[in-house]
Amino acid sequence: MSDDTLHLQALARHSVAVIRAGQAPSGAYIASPTFSVYRYSWLRDGAFIADAMSRAGEIESAEAFFGWCAGILVDRRERVASLLARRAAGERIATTDFLHTRYELDGRDSASSWENFQLDGYGTWLWALGAHSRRHGRSVEPFAAAAALSVAYIAAFWDHPSYDWWEEHETHVHGSTLAAIHAGLVAADGWSALGSGLRSQARDATRDITALVRADGASRGYLAKWIGSDAVDASLIAAATPFGMFAPDDPLLVATVARIERELVHDGGVHRYARDTYFGGGEWLLLSALLGQHYAATGRVAAARAQLDWVAAQATPDGDLPEQSNGHLLAPEQEQAWIERWGTAACPLLWSHAMYLTLALELGLVEGPL
Ligand code: BGC
Repeated sequence: MSDDTLHLQALARHSVAVIRAGQAPSGAYIASPTFSVYRYSWLRDGAFIADAMSRAGEIESAEAFFGWCAGILVDRRERVASLLARRAAGERIATTDFLHTRYELDGRDSASSWENFQLDGYGTWLWALGAHSRRHGRSVEPFAAAAALSVAYIAAFWDHPSYDWWEEHETHVHGSTLAAIHAGLVAADGWSALGSGLRSQARDATRDITALVRADGASRGYLAKWIGSDAVDASLIAAATPFGMFAPDDPLLVATVARIERELVHDGGVHRYARDTYFGGGEWLLLSALLGQHYAATGRVAAARAQLDWVAAQATPDGDLPEQSNGHLLAPEQEQAWIERWGTAACPLLWSHAMYLTLALELGLVEGPL
């Protein structure tokens, strides 16, 4: 076996170790242990991390996270009921009244202010749970009460503007948020424990989401960052891989990925979107791995391996993977201000490790348990 391969395998093992070390007894995964504003657990990051751990055969770790999500929802069942009642009554709901996206590791709402109204995580954890249950033949029953709350919540609010994956642009309805919600609802539609009324609500919503995104995409030939925008965002790759809302060879998806490759990919590193200024707008490891996962899913193995190599090359000497690389910045003049505000960019970021791990597993470079 070549040294390169051994190095990539060691990084996959280290990724599992970083993730394990970052899982609290509650089941929550910390986003980053060393970056103060990320010392919380996000539903979005956590769901992708749990998915990677499930793929790696870490059943207990993944289920501990799903259990943590379930606790979040069940503890807030009255709040969900009240939000649904207000929606049904046609009331305007303030952004701050919705469920949060980022929680304390013990599941409490965090008191510090944040762009908390994000809907995607309430779909993403359902998607990860569904994939886990199929992969390992595990029952979703222990999570059913929470799943029902999550389904009711996203089926009611999917068309409501909310912050996107990057916690920005709250006045819009975002393509990758819709893809995450869609994936969660498709998974839930297959669970008999949820009852036929809720499942048919989930099915109706998936149909309406697809119709909206298709019509919006058809107007310009590719999927956009938000409904009505004409910019792309690299998170849209997820609409095909892994969320499966579009087949990878769907012309809309092919055109979207082509545009992302043209505008947002620089020598393998993937930027979030063209106007990104966060920490100078670097290349995100998790997106570079996501593009690799998409290449792997479409049979472009060499291209997928090149993405894995690029991500691995961003590791620190200790093998930690940062959130982003500053090797190619879109807005270099903005980097310093962020460093002064929050310190150097997050490292290790568990979500980066998770996406690397998923790609290494997909490419067959490693097999779980590691
Ligand atoms: C990213 C989010 C992520 C969070 C924690 C933010 O900067 O935009 O997508 O959930 O960091 O990793």
